[in-house]
Amino acid sequence: MNHDIKNRDLAEEGKRRIDWADRFMPVLRLIRQRFEQERPLDGVRISACLHVTTETANLMRTLKAGGAEAVLCASNLLSTQDDVAASLVVHENIPVFALKGEDTETYYQHLDEAVNFQPMITMDDGADLVSRLHSEEANPAFVENVLAGTEETTTGVIRLKSMAADGVLRYPIIAVNDAKTKHFFDNRYGTGQSTLDGIIRATNLLIAGTTVVVAGYGWCGRGFASRACGLGANVIVTEINPLNALEAMMDGCRVAPMIDAVAEADLVVTLTGDIDVLRREHFEAMKDGAIICNSGHFNVEINIPDLEALSESKKTVREFVEEYSLTDGRKLYLLAEGRLINLASAEGHPASVMDMSFANQALSGEYIVKNHQQMKKQVYDVPEELDDSIATLKLQALGVKIDELTEEQQNYLSSWTMGT
Ligand code: ADE
Repeated sequence: MNHDIKNRDLAEEGKRRIDWADRFMPVLRLIRQRFEQERPLDGVRISACLHVTTETANLMRTLKAGGAEAVLCASNLLSTQDDVAASLVVHENIPVFALKGEDTETYYQHLDEAVNFQPMITMDDGADLVSRLHSEEANPAFVENVLAGTEETTTGVIRLKSMAADGVLRYPIIAVNDAKTKHFFDNRYGTGQSTLDGIIRATNLLIAGTTVVVAGYGWCGRGFASRACGLGANVIVTEINPLNALEAMMDGCRVAPMIDAVAEADLVVTLTGDIDVLRREHFEAMKDGAIICNSGHFNVEINIPDLEALSESKKTVREFVEEYSLTDGRKLYLLAEGRLINLASAEGHPASVMDMSFANQALSGEYIVKNHQQMKKQVYDVPEELDDSIATLKLQALGVKIDELTEEQQNYLSSWTMGT
């Protein structure tokens, strides 16, 4: 079996950690048990380009239990957990192409392994695999053989919707990110907690009393801001959307333009999905000692060339912490090269939220096998009944009961919908 991992000897540690994550993934486990019986993915080749974490390992086990032949490559240069990659190869016989800290060239070689597997389904996080399959680098026959794909993240869905609008998307996609059981929980509580986890592991910073600037008040920004507030930070939100800005204000945050906010910031975190959120003018306005990092999908939110241009030197002062000495004497600290802080210096979102995200992935894979003939080359939502079933299963697994409508209540509500 072809693969590219750092060290097979890490497999036992990887397995222990994958099993630990599995304890918190009851919905995915139930799906895996059903898949073992029903084998809905029998003989289906799946290429997954995802963060190689303990949670992703449990998704890969589930796909394999369903009969799929699956390969996995990294969706980010810094997010791979090498022990997990080793365990998937050694214990699960799943080919993995991922090395923590790989360079860009290796990253694309790994993507090409996933492309050359000639997938029938792609599972992407950020749309790099789909882009590569559509590019001149790929054998043009391969994209034609894909039945459909799934996309895990907001940035990827935006990229794919834009490809669909331009008429260049060559196969259907299910936007897993847009399922309620995904983004309400993973993007909000997952990013909220794991971003703080990454910052704290990298810096050992005390959050209480710290002025934290949160760029972007989408689901990820909301989650992060609320968790930072909970730890006692003074949060300032920056936004370009008036509605989001109002929401941030009424959630109790201060709202200000970036140029004003950075002058007060001890810590700035970008979660927008856009480029150059922090650039020259902002670095010029920052306090000595400010820490900056990114939790958006790509490392484009912080303009690092601008930071380099203002600096006379840089050095690593802790793992994942780079000290930039500016020509005016100030020092700024960049975490994890501006890449996803929650996956670079921590372990990504906790298993309990990834349980629902990856339940959506697994069920969407099954849905594609059953329904691909009716699907067009566009971006689809996860069917509502799948989304609802995941919420129901998660509540059951957590032992939480909810009320049911009485017959009278049901009749009352339907009398409104029937116009009587
Ligand atoms: N994205 C964010 N957190 C993740 C995790 N733990 N596993 C896979 N993808 C992720």
